[in-house]
Amino acid sequence: MKNTASLIKMKTQNEKIAMLTAYDYPSAKLAEEAGVDVILVGDSLGMVVLGYDSTVKVTVDDMIHHGKAARRGAPDTFLVVDMPFASFHGSAERILDNAVRMFQETGAEALKVEGADDVVNAIELLTRTGIPIVAHLGLLPQSAGVLGGYKVQGKTADAAQKLIDDALACEVAGACMLVLECIPYQLAEKVTAALTIPVIGIGAGSETDGQVLVYHDTLKYGSHHLPKFVRSYAETGESMKNGLIQYVNEVKSGVFPAEEHRFTMKEEELKQLYG
Ligand code: KIV
Ligand code: NA
Repeated sequence: MKNTASLIKMKTQNEKIAMLTAYDYPSAKLAEEAGVDVILVGDSLGMVVLGYDSTVKVTVDDMIHHGKAARRGAPDTFLVVDMPFASFHGSAERILDNAVRMFQETGAEALKVEGADDVVNAIELLTRTGIPIVAHLGLLPQSAGVLGGYKVQGKTADAAQKLIDDALACEVAGACMLVLECIPYQLAEKVTAALTIPVIGIGAGSETDGQVLVYHDTLKYGSHHLPKFVRSYAETGESMKNGLIQYVNEVKSGVFPAEEHRFTMKEEELKQLYG
C-alpha cells in the first residue's frame, strides 16, 4: 500500500499517480484489482450513488457508511474519505469530533477537505492530531451555490495568484496531497511545480502529478451528464441495461429459469407426499 511518503516519492520520481473514486465494496475491489494508487470515497457519491442534485446533502454518517464498505473492498489501497459539506467548519471541537469519527470508523489513510482560508486552520488542526489531510482547490462542488455553478476556476491572473497562495498555505499547514479541480492547465502546472506534496488533477490538464476521475464517469455507469474533462473507458451502464432487459424478457417469456437452474425432489419422496 502507498503511504504519504511513497506518494511524495512518486512525485519526485515523475511517476504518475492514478486515483479513482469508489463508493462501495465492489467498486473499491475493482479499483484495487486494477492497480489504482489512491481510492477516494468522494462526496460525489451524493450525486452518482444517492441521486441528489449536489453534494451538500451528504452527511458524515453517509461518508462513514460508504467509507467502511470501500475499505472492505480495498484493504490494501491508500484510501481517502471526503469530509462532507460543513463538517469541517465551525469550532475546532466540532471539526475534530467529525474528523476523528470518520478517520477511526472508516479506517481510511486520509480525509479530504475543500477550500482554503479558514479551512487552512482545519488542515493544521487535523494534521497535528495525526490525521493526514488532502486539500482540494479550484472548483469546490460544496460551494457551487456561492460560486454560481460548476465553472472553471482561476482563469484571471488575480484568481490564479490567490489559488497559488492558497495551495502553498495548504502545504504549509501540513496537507499531504492536493486535488485541483477544473482550472486552466497552465495554472495547474505552476501549482504542481511550486509544491512538494503530490498534486492530483481533475479537469486540470496533464501536467499534475496524477489524475482523479469519478468511478461512474470513467465507466459510464448511470445516466448523468459527463463533464468535458472526462474520458470514459467502458460502456458499463449500457451493458448492464441490456442484461436487465434480457432478464425481464426471459422471465416474461418463460425462458428463465431453465432446467439447469432448478432443484429436484426424488420420486420416492414425491410418492410419499402425494400417495
Ligand atoms: O467527490 C469527489 O469525487 C471529488 C473528486 C472529484 C476529486 O472530490
Ligand atoms: Na468531493
